[in-house]
Formats: sequence, structure tokens, C-alpha cells
Amino acid sequence: MNKKVDYLEKNLSRINKALIDSLPKKNFSEITEAIHYSVMNGGKRMRPQLMLLMAESLKVEVKNKTIDLMAAAGELIHCYSLIHDDLPAMDDDDFRRGKPSCHKKFSEAVAILAGDAIQPLSLEILTSIKDENLSASSKCEIINIFARACGPKGMVEGQNLDIQAEGKKLSEKDLDKLHYLKTGKLIEACVLSVCNLKKGIKPDEVKKLIIFAKKFGLAFQIRDDILDVIGKEKEIGKPVGSDQIKNKSTYASTLGIEKSQNKADNLSKEAVKILSSLPYDTEKLENLCHLIVQRQS
Ligand code: IPE
Ligand code: IPE
Ligand code: MG
Ligand code: MG
Ligand code: MG
Repeated sequence: MNKKVDYLEKNLSRINKALIDSLPKKNFSEITEAIHYSVMNGGKRMRPQLMLLMAESLKVEVKNKTIDLMAAAGELIHCYSLIHDDLPAMDDDDFRRGKPSCHKKFSEAVAILAGDAIQPLSLEILTSIKDENLSASSKCEIINIFARACGPKGMVEGQNLDIQAEGKKLSEKDLDKLHYLKTGKLIEACVLSVCNLKKGIKPDEVKKLIIFAKKFGLAFQIRDDILDVIGKEKEIGKPVGSDQIKNKSTYASTLGIEKSQNKADNLSKEAVKILSSLPYDTEKLENLCHLIVQRQS
């Protein structure tokens, strides 16, 4: 996220280690090579960063390894979604994270299969967590949270709405819904899964954290839409202007850049306000809220 922040840098190494440790051996097959190519390639790791900071803030009493595995699973679901998002049948983008997209480097079939393989891999990682501080029912709930978030009523439906909305002018309300499903749901799952690790967390606190996640997720996607217009390809690592070429319904196209940025800034401020009303040390999370709407990549 451009600005160097010590604890984010530190967590980034932790996240990348958890990811590489969770992947099958690179040289097992062409698919595992494609998985390594599309996962270990310099993403911002915003979702696992959010999970690690959440866990720190709530002072959850599980092993660090448990948090690492959950963070890896959350990031892997995101990585799979990007591989499929770039396919010709979807956004048809040739670059991702500064390199040829998976289907460009390998083939469409390999990209589809690599994405397919990453989904059960993330669930395998979650089911293999061994921690006496995590009950079987909590673990099951965490798996359920992620499965629901990326399934037919979550990210997949968001991606479908996104394709259907090409060439159409959506209302702000419909755009909010689309963005919530395609991007917000997984971010919400990252937050909610960590809430599940906190013994004795009050239902009211969980409710607040879900609202926080919704605002955070929407702010994040609005900034993504903005960067598609004003970002620099070298920084965002993907083609600039791709949404316009595909006639996507985005915040940038619906509200314009200035109003979109105002909306993202306001959501970020509201998210901070929610965090600061909670009985936890949320300073780092609050900082993350600021960073995601100012980011250049
Ligand atoms: C891009 O996500 C797609 C969205 C859902 C906004 P990121 O901006 O998190 O992409 P990476 O993981 O850093 O490449
Ligand atoms: C992607 O949104 C959302 C998912 C992958 C679920 P975008 O299509 O806007 O993401 P980018 O801009 O290609 O990274
Ligand atoms: Mg897309
Ligand atoms: Mg895309
Ligand atoms: Mg985009």
C-alpha cells in the first residue's frame, strides 16, 4: 500500500511465509506452477493484513499459526477470484500484479483449473488447523463463513452482477450491492472469522465489526475503481482504463472521481468511528482504514 509502515511490513513477511508453506510443491504439476505464479507474486495482502491486525486488536487466544492459516486461506480465496476475474470471459485483462495474467502466462484451461484448485485448497487449510484453543464448532463456523462469502450468494453472485451490469447505468444503491457482494463479502468474512476466535465477544461488538467491514470493503473497492482511471500501470500492476473499455458500472463512471473519492473517504472515516467506539486497541486498524483510501496501488 505504498507507504512503508513497520508493522505492515512485518506482517507481510509473516503472511507470505504462511502462504508459501500452505501451497503444494511448485514442481508437482503445471497447475501447481500456475498456483505459485498467481499467489506468490507481490499482492498487497490487504485481507490477511486486516485479519492479523484484527486478531492483535481483539487479543485472541489462539496460536499464531491458527491466525496465519486463516489469513492464508482468506488470501487464497482472493487470489483464485483474481485469476478467474482476468479470464477473457470475465474482464479479459492481460496483466495482474505487474506480470502477465495467469491465462496469458499459461493457458485459459490452466487458469480455470488453478483457480478451481485454490478454492478447496483454502478449505483444506482451514480444516487442517490444529489448536486446542479452537473448538471444533468454532472451526466449522469459520469454514462456513468463508464458504458462504465466496459462494452463490456472495462473491460469485457479485461477479455475475458485475458482468451483467456492463454497458448499463446502475443506481448508486445497486452499485453498493454489487460491490458488497463481489468484494465486501470476502472482507466481511475475514473480519467475522477473526471475531469467532474471540471468546466472550459481545453480539453488539460483532454487529459493529460487521458494519465496519462493510464500510471498509466498499471504500476499498471504490478506491480500486478510481485507480482504474487515475492510477499508474506501474503502480497498480494491472491495465489502467480496463473498466472503461469493458463499459463497467463502477463508482468512477457513475459518480465521477471526486464524488467517488469523497464517498470512499467518508466510509473510511465512518469505519474508524466504529472502531474507536469498541473497547479494544484499534489504532493500527484505524490506520489501515486511512491507507486503503489513499493508496496508489
Ligand atoms: C483487487 O484486489 C480486486 C478487488 C477486489 C478490489 P486487491 O487490490 O486487493 O489486489 P491485490 O491482491 O493487491 O493484487
Ligand atoms: C474484482 O473486481 C472482484 C473480484 C475478483 C471478486 P475488479 O474486476 O474491479 O478487480 P480488478 O480491478 O480486476 O483487480
Ligand atoms: Mg471484475
Ligand atoms: Mg477485473
Ligand atoms: Mg477494478
